[in-house]
Amino acid sequence: MDVYEAIYTTRAMRRLSPDPIPEELLPKLFDAAIRGPNSGNTQLFRFLCVTDPAMKKTIQVIYRECLDELNATQYASAQDTIATGDPDDPEVQQTMRVDKSAQWLANNLDVAPMLIFVFGKPGGETTTYPCLWNLCLAARSEGLGTAITSLLKLQKERVEDLLGMPRDDVWNMHGMIPIGYPTGKWGVPRRRPAHEAVYVDTWGQAPEWTADDPLWTAPY
Ligand SMILES: Cc1cc2nc3c(=O)[nH]c(=O)nc-3n(C[C@H](O)[C@H](O)[C@H](O)COP(=O)(O)O)c2cc1C
Repeated sequence: MDVYEAIYTTRAMRRLSPDPIPEELLPKLFDAAIRGPNSGNTQLFRFLCVTDPAMKKTIQVIYRECLDELNATQYASAQDTIATGDPDDPEVQQTMRVDKSAQWLANNLDVAPMLIFVFGKPGGETTTYPCLWNLCLAARSEGLGTAITSLLKLQKERVEDLLGMPRDDVWNMHGMIPIGYPTGKWGVPRRRPAHEAVYVDTWGQAPEWTADDPLWTAPY
């Protein structure tokens, strides 16, 4: 797969089928993941793959609780937008779409054939996330969907106990990705134009170029 196709179409793919991931793909995915840039090449990352149905179900229940907590606090205004916003407003529609997809994941996390946890040193996300993203890109090129999630950090100790982690705070859960074959379609995620995020020479100075629409478009 062309690198731009992988970059442009690797999006949060939360709706997954229960079909298992072929065993032979796992070394490919993790060997690609660990090639990521990491601070001082210290390689301070660990991955833990959960496929056990009972474990996945317990994690789903915890994840559901975490989303409910977030929706009642940090995401309360988004919930308000969904409840009272104009359903014809494209921004409201986008909020509704993301919420629907997030709710589906919270109710069906255990449907994914595998949940991959990533661990790193406290504050070491700058090392784990490039590797996690490599894993997502490699998965995409194999037709597998992923979604980076960090919600379970709200119940970090409960999850780490479940996973048999020692309570020594040496390794910390940085995130979890459900991985599996998508039930939905691949597409290019919506973003504000790139030129709005780029300055030249001084803060706030716009570049001369613009890119209003995605510069790579999906042939599907
Ligand atoms: C650090 C990080 C944490 C995230 N945590 C969650 C999460 O807990 N649950 C979730 O459903 N999505 C999570 N996401 C996915 C984002 O919601 C997603 O990347 C964003 O909505 C853009 O999605 P798109 O690429 O499909 O447009 C997380 C993404 C990142 C980078």
